[in-house]
Amino acid sequence: MLRTHTCGELTISDAGKEIILCGWVEARRDHGKLIFIDIRDRQGITQVVFIPKEAPLAYEVAANLRSEFVIVLKGTVNPRPKGTINPKIPSGEIEILAREIEILNPSNTLPFEINGSIDVGEEIRLKYRYLDLRRPKMLNTIVLRHKLYQSIRRFLDSQGFLEVETPILTKSTPEGARDFLVPSRLSPHEFYALPQSPQLFKQILMVSGIEKYFQIAKCFRDEDLRADRQPEFTQLDMEMSFVNEEDIFKLTESLFSTILKELKGIELTIPFKRMAYKEAMERYNNDKPNLRTEQEEFAFVWIIDFPLFKYNNEEKRWESEHHPFTAPHQEDSAALETPELTKIRSRSYDLVLNGNEIASGSIRIHDQNLQGKIFKILGLSEEETKAKFGFLLEAFTFGAPPHGGIAFGLDRLLAILTGCSSIREVIAFPKTQKGLCPMTQAPSQVTEKQLNEVNLTHKKTAIKSP
Ligand code: AMO
Repeated sequence: MLRTHTCGELTISDAGKEIILCGWVEARRDHGKLIFIDIRDRQGITQVVFIPKEAPLAYEVAANLRSEFVIVLKGTVNPRPKGTINPKIPSGEIEILAREIEILNPSNTLPFEINGSIDVGEEIRLKYRYLDLRRPKMLNTIVLRHKLYQSIRRFLDSQGFLEVETPILTKSTPEGARDFLVPSRLSPHEFYALPQSPQLFKQILMVSGIEKYFQIAKCFRDEDLRADRQPEFTQLDMEMSFVNEEDIFKLTESLFSTILKELKGIELTIPFKRMAYKEAMERYNNDKPNLRTEQEEFAFVWIIDFPLFKYNNEEKRWESEHHPFTAPHQEDSAALETPELTKIRSRSYDLVLNGNEIASGSIRIHDQNLQGKIFKILGLSEEETKAKFGFLLEAFTFGAPPHGGIAFGLDRLLAILTGCSSIREVIAFPKTQKGLCPMTQAPSQVTEKQLNEVNLTHKKTAIKSP
């Protein structure tokens, strides 16, 4: 190790120790006879003092330091003189009297200040995201995401869940958005789709006997972007066998109580409120009502009893309100044989937090005949059903257990926990509203050779003038 300590751990109890610190120059204050710098690493900030008569060479180097230079320095931990203590930082009672310093790497003048309060445009922040992530607010968000993942994993492991990875190069799963397609080199003219969610694989895992599955899963959807939507985002995806809605509600409430206690020290009131879709629409004209009152840390509400189908007037066909794998209410199932399809309630549920849909799930169909009937109502021919979902229907013939699940939008949850108005603020490397990455300049053109390898050619279209 280059260093003996981090910049966040030295306190008055370390006084007298000889230490080595590494980090970035946060600030330099030249007082003529003394130079002070604040050295920063991920853990914190420590003040360092250079005195010419104590260490003339180190003082000379310190005189040339600029913001964000990377340095290593050796010195002694000293109590700060009375009146100069900074109670705002953990190392505020000490400073380092530097004896040696080496510049490990200089830095150009930054396009924006790391600690400045001046508003910087998002485009420039995303172009220099590595600098933006040096800001304490952004670092705190990364730390919070890490803690959230650890908390989720600990809790679900304690409940007997297995974490299983599902493929990224896969077949299209219909979640209502456009797929991102990946041409196959080995199967000319054929494409993989990036998963909109692991929906079909998690159901297949129930047929495999996994019983309790979870995954912190990357999902990809080619849809128009908004503050709460990214083309790639992260779900906590879960599926369980031999469960009903109550089991899923109870587990979710227990999961949220644990993570909010661990992350924010907040005691949640459980069980969460429940509201039928019909009531939400009648009272709030919204299936994501914000029920938060002035006194409340967070207002969760389960929205239940969604309709199973909605009618697409433009295309004159029925669509699933959630997705086609959602089971209908047993007592409404008879209506499947009638034209009264709008009356059928589904066994799906959304979890709404402060007016944001943060999770969605359902009890699934595990009977191949019923699943086939739903596809038929949705207008899929037998051939289409077989080509798209034949593997699922076949899996259901080999002893598929009753099952259900849920998926949480972790970016949305983190944005709410951190009070950010956009999920871009809680993703390390997000895309802009136009789906671009200003840092890497993705998406970008590829060479003719690359296109040839995957049997693609450019469609020649006239380029519109701006
Ligand atoms: P759904 O499509 O409702 O359900 O997605 C679940 C949750 O994922 C979040 N989410 C998004 N977050 C950011 N950007 C997006 N583009 C985006 N799209 C969705 C939301 C949403 O509630 N397979 C089903 C779940 C299931 O039935 O188990 C599914 O994906 O918070």
